[in-house]
Amino acid sequence: MRHLLSCENLGADAATAILDTAGALKQALLGREVRKLPTLRGRTVITMFYENSTRTRVSFEIAGKWMSADVVNVSSGGSSVSKGESLRDTALTLAAAGADCVIVRHPASGAAHRLAEWLAGTHTSVVNAGDGTHEHPTQALLDAATLRERLGGLNGRRVAIVGDVLHSRVARSNVHLLTTLGAEVVLVAPPTLLPSGVERWPVNVSHELDAELSAVDAVMMLRVQAERIAGPAGPGGSNGGFFPSAREYSIAYGLSEARLRLLPEHAVVLHPGPMLRGMEIASAVADSPRAAITDQVRNGVHVRMAVLYHLLAGEEEVA
Ligand code: CP
Repeated sequence: MRHLLSCENLGADAATAILDTAGALKQALLGREVRKLPTLRGRTVITMFYENSTRTRVSFEIAGKWMSADVVNVSSGGSSVSKGESLRDTALTLAAAGADCVIVRHPASGAAHRLAEWLAGTHTSVVNAGDGTHEHPTQALLDAATLRERLGGLNGRRVAIVGDVLHSRVARSNVHLLTTLGAEVVLVAPPTLLPSGVERWPVNVSHELDAELSAVDAVMMLRVQAERIAGPAGPGGSNGGFFPSAREYSIAYGLSEARLRLLPEHAVVLHPGPMLRGMEIASAVADSPRAAITDQVRNGVHVRMAVLYHLLAGEEEVA
């Protein structure tokens, strides 16, 4: 295998290898004035984003550039996608143009897998940068890197993932990766924001955030995916009672300063971003030393460097 499409198919050895490489790259670049390694010189990386992004897109671009790859960004609005060109034809065009790796974000679950199938006859690798509500594997890897740094390891740790699990590719990738690496996961959400079949996931489920906080090593707040919530208004508005109002959500599932005090001293607060401050997480909590949100972004660059390294320069293969 030569792609990174999901955490579901990423074994513990491959995941640990990526995390170890990311840590080594972080150390290698620490304090350097010029953050440039020659590792991927001559390689071409193309990002292809059909959905908006700040963190993922920028950090993949920086990761490629810090490893001396040529990085080209394609957006649906500024490309022939806006003229109706299909994802398949776009991908084959980019591969023919010389892409060694295509990094794709797409609103359709399964898009990255389809891309990998279409590119089977080429040398081009595919990285899933988020596909619909399915997976966001590099987000889970950077979350794991951050938790390893803060907690010293993941084996036996308990992580609460809180909020809109139903629409969250971040939650799905984290459930797979955290459990693969030996952590225990509790999903905390209202029943309407949990996926059907969640009872078959390798997790505990709770609807009561306050009841969970004293027993966790980390709490991962999720973004409310307003763009994926059916109905006219999404959070804060009326959509047939499917979604609690912003105020109801904040009261039941927001990480307030009072809730921060319920966490053990060592527990870490994560959020993948972008954050809805005041609703998902209080500003004072997001900006507190207990929160590792900027560390997540920082580690995102090193993790994505590591992924590119393992796909394009390393000897071992990644699922
Ligand atoms: N966490 C995350 O994927 O953020 P972006 O949408 O800004 O890339």
